[in-house]
Amino acid sequence: MDVAGKVVLVTGGGGGIGAGIAEAFAEQGAKVAVTDINLDFARAEAERIGRGTIALAHDVTSPESWAEVKAAVEAQVGPVDVLCNNAGISIPFRPMEEITLEQFDRVMAINVRGVFLGCTLFMPEMKARRSGHIVNTSSVNGQLPHGTFAVYSASKFAVSALSESIRQELEPFGVGVSILYPGLTRSRMSEGQMDKLPEEMQRAIAGKMMEPVWLGRAVVRAVENNALHIVTHPDHKAALEARMAALYASFGEPAQPGFSGGRIEV
Ligand SMILES: NC(=O)c1ccc[n+]([C@@H]2O[C@H](COP(=O)([O-])OP(=O)(O)OC[C@H]3O[C@@H](n4cnc5c(N)ncnc54)[C@H](O)[C@@H]3O)[C@@H](O)[C@H]2O)c1
Repeated sequence: MDVAGKVVLVTGGGGGIGAGIAEAFAEQGAKVAVTDINLDFARAEAERIGRGTIALAHDVTSPESWAEVKAAVEAQVGPVDVLCNNAGISIPFRPMEEITLEQFDRVMAINVRGVFLGCTLFMPEMKARRSGHIVNTSSVNGQLPHGTFAVYSASKFAVSALSESIRQELEPFGVGVSILYPGLTRSRMSEGQMDKLPEEMQRAIAGKMMEPVWLGRAVVRAVENNALHIVTHPDHKAALEARMAALYASFGEPAQPGFSGGRIEV
């Protein structure tokens, strides 16, 4: 898809990676709407990016809020061509038994339910138009789970799986789906998580944060080329290879001796 002149909606665009995605699409001449639960954050980024970028208040966990945002974007800019489900939260690194049910529900509501609501709202019309693209922000942890980060990792695995599944559903209609797997990137979320670390460690980590606009430019290229996976931090490749190698090594004889069934193709 040539993104110039297209309408792009970016959730959680009030800073960090969402703002980087919005900026990169605006650079290429797209008409961009940034939404955020914090309207002041969204307005500040829209103003910084310029080029007619609009800002809207949005709670991605609420179907009513999604309906309002969709109507407002259509009225102010036009029907959405590219939907970027980027809003997400993390929680502090803790052994899983220290995570409360409220924290679990909140992470799943924003990171998973929010993506489900966005996709299901726009999929029917993209299919009918036989054009469009959805970009969902997962994480390196959406392929590589991490001890003390179980619930966040689980939410991002859900985003990866959901995205790959709907890619298959939408492909016959000419609608694309991409998954963004950020590693450490400068944002309120990542900088906030460092707060309690010793200063020396904070300085070391700060130097390893990618600047969000570069992730945005990778997203634009993926939409232009209809690429499924957007890997911005290739340094995680060895860890993923080790995880997959352990899984492949577990493929041996079937558990039921002589079992000859297999994968059912439909
Ligand atoms: N920064 C990283 O290192 C990193 C790494 C991997 C994945 N990610 C993912 O990238 C995405 C963006 O995160 P970020 O790092 O830019 O953090 P961020 O906190 O700067 O941005 C997230 C934005 O989402 C907004 N938001 C929170 N709840 C919302 C809701 N209910 N409805 C709408 N907006 C809401 C926040 O106000 C915030 O502006 C997230 O999905 C995150 O999980 C970030």
